[in-house]
Amino acid sequence: MSEKTKKSLSILFLDRINGYSKMERCLNTASMVPFVLTSLFIASIFVVFLLYSPNPLSTMSIRGGSVTVEEHFQKQEELVSTNSTSKPQKEQKSCDLFKGRWFDSSRGPYYTSSSCTTIPDTKNCLKQGRKDTHFLNWKWKPEECELPRFDPKTFLDMVRGKKMAFIGDSVSRNHMESLLCLLSQEETPNDIYKDSEDRFRKWFFPEHNFTLMSLWSRFLIVGEERTVNGTGSSIFDMQLDKVDDYWATQFPDLDYAITSDGHWFFRVLYLHEANKLIGCVYCHEPNITHHDIDFPIRMAFRSAFRYMSNCDKRVAVLVRTFAPSHFENGAWNTGGYCNRTSPMREEEVDLESVEWKVRNVQIQEVERVRKEGLRIGELDVTKAMMMRGDGHPGEYWGNKWMKGYNDCTHWCMPGPVDVWNEFLLAVLTREPWL
Ligand SMILES: *[C@@H]1O[C@H](CO)[C@@H](O)[C@H](O)[C@H]1NC(C)=O
Ligand SMILES: *[C@@H]1O[C@H](CO)[C@@H](O)[C@H](O)[C@H]1NC(C)=O
Ligand SMILES: *[C@@H]1O[C@H](CO)[C@@H](O)[C@H](O)[C@H]1NC(C)=O
Ligand SMILES: *[C@@H]1O[C@H](CO)[C@@H](O)[C@H](O)[C@H]1NC(C)=O
Ligand SMILES: *[C@@H]1O[C@H](CO)[C@@H](O)[C@H](O)[C@H]1NC(C)=O
Repeated sequence: MSEKTKKSLSILFLDRINGYSKMERCLNTASMVPFVLTSLFIASIFVVFLLYSPNPLSTMSIRGGSVTVEEHFQKQEELVSTNSTSKPQKEQKSCDLFKGRWFDSSRGPYYTSSSCTTIPDTKNCLKQGRKDTHFLNWKWKPEECELPRFDPKTFLDMVRGKKMAFIGDSVSRNHMESLLCLLSQEETPNDIYKDSEDRFRKWFFPEHNFTLMSLWSRFLIVGEERTVNGTGSSIFDMQLDKVDDYWATQFPDLDYAITSDGHWFFRVLYLHEANKLIGCVYCHEPNITHHDIDFPIRMAFRSAFRYMSNCDKRVAVLVRTFAPSHFENGAWNTGGYCNRTSPMREEEVDLESVEWKVRNVQIQEVERVRKEGLRIGELDVTKAMMMRGDGHPGEYWGNKWMKGYNDCTHWCMPGPVDVWNEFLLAVLTREPWL
């Protein structure tokens, strides 16, 4: 039997079983990319809670105390504000956008509560009572070039007629929400789809025929929560070699996929491969191989990339690297907080931390699959965001029912999260993939 016949037979078979006509375009018999139907919904009283909870088992360690960052960056600002309009094209192209510093600029944010009506209350820090607004003034300056200001018109013209999805957890949705605000300064989008949990969301920009969506996936791969006596346990069974259908079924319809994840892995995880238990993370069983958290993250991205590689559809894939939480003096549930009012210096960032390790794993997997031929880019935001402990909602997240907890995981809007979209536009401009 020829490869081709085998392939179409398996497509037929799977179509009949699962009714997934879209899947066939990503099928490849040479790979063992699986797509077992995940259970549709894991009921748990903790769902909303977990949605907004950071990882319970890690806190970011932050060295050093108060520093006059203003002083430190004075020089940088002068550098930027002086004439540096047109660097040679070549230099701009090779410059590492993600290596740089925050500098104090007088430029305000791109949008406000009144110019962007879609800011979620939980991230609308000023509306929730945050008084210090200085965190809005810091701009990112790559060492060797300029990061262009976000221009919504340029962006919308570039993505005319396309579909873009943010695939990942609630921090991924945070990224999408920032882009939505930035673009709505140019054209008001229509809200065309929302599920009851606000996990899948679709917006349409009619003048530009552009669809923007967020596709919820905690792990990129299949992860099912164990229930104990009918309630969620926050313990997950992970299928390291099975991608999450929630995004995988939609993938062939996309033009751009911005992929991320990380926070949900900081839990007790049981790891399965080919339906066999092969190890665990943070578990106590003596007879199971214990892995560090970077292992399941590596395998999750590897499986997701393998699936994307095997898809016939040309999709521009970007990875947004891990954006760390900033709990100080405790974890999210033990009184940790994040009330800084200015960024940290690069020297204060801990490159021995697990957050940086997670980022390195993600970059390694990007490089690995790029060598194998997948068109993939990265938004390497980790180090820039490690410096922004001042950019989280903290106590200002309009949280009435769980008073006492801080949100040091998601990002204020407007706020430093908007730089992710400056990066996005810059990367798409450099490499016009589509
Ligand atoms: C940049 O410098 C050149 C020459 O020094 C000057 O003619 C030009 O107006 C400057 N541009 C800006 C934006 O300052
Ligand atoms: C809008 O974009 C879709 C692809 O996303 C394309 O099929 C359709 O023809 C476009 N419509 C118009 C009016 O350009
Ligand atoms: C589950 O419920 C049973 C009966 O109420 C109880 O004995 C058991 O300890 C519970 N298990 C856990 C893990 O809470
Ligand atoms: C652990 O390994 C020991 C020795 O091989 C065996 O006797 C025991 O049953 C195992 N326990 C579990 C939980 O698999
Ligand atoms: C941050 O919060 C802690 C604990 O509530 C407090 O001790 C500290 O003074 C606060 N720092 C600032 C800069 O508000």
